[in-house]
Amino acid sequence: MGRSSKDKRDIYYRLAKEEGWRARSAFKLLQLDHEFNLFSDVNRAVDLCAAPGSWSQVLSRKLRGREEKGEKANGGEEVKIVAVDLQAMAPLPGVTQIQGDITKVSTAQEIIRHFEGQPADLVVCDGAPDVTGLHDVDEYIQAQLLLAALNITTHVLKPGGTFVAKIFRGKDVTLLYSQLKIFFSSVTCSKPRSSRNSSIEAFVVCENYSPPEGYVPNMSNPLLDHSYGNYKEWEEWKCLTLVWCCGASA
Ligand SMILES: C[S@@+](CC[C@H](N)C(=O)[O-])C[C@H]1O[C@@H](n2cnc3c(N)ncnc32)[C@H](O)[C@@H]1O
Repeated sequence: MGRSSKDKRDIYYRLAKEEGWRARSAFKLLQLDHEFNLFSDVNRAVDLCAAPGSWSQVLSRKLRGREEKGEKANGGEEVKIVAVDLQAMAPLPGVTQIQGDITKVSTAQEIIRHFEGQPADLVVCDGAPDVTGLHDVDEYIQAQLLLAALNITTHVLKPGGTFVAKIFRGKDVTLLYSQLKIFFSSVTCSKPRSSRNSSIEAFVVCENYSPPEGYVPNMSNPLLDHSYGNYKEWEEWKCLTLVWCCGASA
């Protein structure tokens, strides 16, 4: 699909072209790193919903760049980056690609295989479903994708690790924060300046992964199991899901 002249006037679009990033989204991750110092102790990173690959480029340039300079993190372990998307993308140096669905347990297993059984230090997700233009439906689908990303993250992330994901700041976003806070001691919402003001998109930076005691990752729907976290929040979540579903089918 061709780019509109509005895109071409956009400063980050032009900068991305100049600096060789595959998409202007690269600046969102770079700015989030600037704010949260995301990469300092990271050797193993996962990029969920990665195509066309600008976030993977950022990971590759930052982590492998540091390695090439001899500045190794975490006791000098080798840097490993895995990118997952439904779509194929052009190869990137030092990035292993999995063409797969983040909602599938086989994808989690493939990531773990690539890390030789070691957990990831960082999982990022810029996932976006196809936008329908119907606000409530788009918000609902984005929320489901975020929960799917959280779900697979619980299979692959080390305790203490960091998860960064796109979120739509819709009217019910606090319920999503509640879900995330069950798994992370710190959840912060940030809107990098390269994210368009006209978009309700923002990013959650979830630090210090600390799942509830006894939590066992399970792709069949662990996040909808109310035995984890606050029961009242779970009841609110169920009500909201019903409202969303009814709205979506109306
Ligand atoms: C906004 S793009 C990501 C852009 C990317 N971060 C970059 O910087 O180049 C969103 C991606 O999410 C992917 N996606 C959506 N649902 C997915 C799923 N269930 N599993 C894997 N990828 C998915 C789409 O294929 C699309 O490539």
